[in-house]
Amino acid sequence: MKTRITELFGIEHPIVQGGMHYVGFAELAAAVSEAGGLGIITGLTQKTPDDLATEIAKCKTLTDKPFGVNLTFLPTLTQPDYPGYVRAILEGGVTVVETAGNNPAQVLPPLKEAGIKVIHKCTSIRHALKAQSIGCDAVSVDGFECGGHPGEDDIPNFILLPRAAEELEIPFVASGGMADGRSLVASLALGADGINMGTRFIATKEAPVHENVKEAILRATELDTRLIMRPLRNTERVLSNAAVERLLEKEKDLGDALTIQDILPEVAGVYPKVMMEGEMDAGAWSCGMVVGLIRDIPTVKELVDRIMAEANAIIRERFATMLG
Ligand SMILES: Cc1cc2nc3c(=O)[nH]c(=O)nc-3n(C[C@H](O)[C@H](O)[C@H](O)COP(=O)(O)O)c2cc1C
Repeated sequence: MKTRITELFGIEHPIVQGGMHYVGFAELAAAVSEAGGLGIITGLTQKTPDDLATEIAKCKTLTDKPFGVNLTFLPTLTQPDYPGYVRAILEGGVTVVETAGNNPAQVLPPLKEAGIKVIHKCTSIRHALKAQSIGCDAVSVDGFECGGHPGEDDIPNFILLPRAAEELEIPFVASGGMADGRSLVASLALGADGINMGTRFIATKEAPVHENVKEAILRATELDTRLIMRPLRNTERVLSNAAVERLLEKEKDLGDALTIQDILPEVAGVYPKVMMEGEMDAGAWSCGMVVGLIRDIPTVKELVDRIMAEANAIIRERFATMLG
């Protein structure tokens, strides 16, 4: 399948693996790229720029195909060394960067000068247009369904994607709720040039996370995610667990008086405990509504091949029959 996204990134299939904190290590990124998609290493999961340089080098030993690095700009307690991370990306010869969380203008000049393709992940049309206007090559449009930070507008992909198609000139991938060939074909129909998946890629053999995380994803239904941190205007979609329910109680009790300090026990330092130690109630971790569609733990290649085969069958058989 050829789309503007496969052409832009030099990949075989229009499937991107979004950056994921403590999930997007070299093993997963390389597996996705080897399967013909675009794998992405999560920059800030690496504690220092040197660690990121090592992770990039490791990914290069695992695949010769293009892969990317995610740079996330979200409110954090300590300011990351973004210039250092950019240097590691440039020196590592990475060809794609996924930015997210805030306007990526601060990192664009060195990336563009090096010929790196930048895909900015955003949750609204106005942010997508801004990304286009400052020179991003593509955008990832994250609907309200998505795992992680869906923004504050709450527009689901059935509206957001066609709106993006109406407004944007640069190519975009549909993100949030994507799981299978049906998602891919639907996204293409709505005007996207491919899909970006987060949660679905966690439940794969190569995802370097604790088995408890994969089992929790298999067990969960589409009713099991919650939105947290809405009063802080930093909304995050996470999987429900004891810590999340406790956090939501605090939000209810404190109302507008809530501060990040009140919920630190539920949100700070959670990812290593959940993803590496498998402590599933350690705190809040991102997860999309798409958990309701995830029922197995295939290899990344099996997953990608299955998506492409399903998409082909829908287009060539189901649609062709409908048209007589
Ligand atoms: C566990 C997890 C961690 C994530 N961490 C990040 C991150 O650090 N930076 C980022 O830009 N997006 C992050 N995301 C969002 C994903 O890249 C992607 O946009 C989102 O998962 C798409 O929605 P889906 O889960 O329905 O596929 C994360 C998502 C998950 C599930």
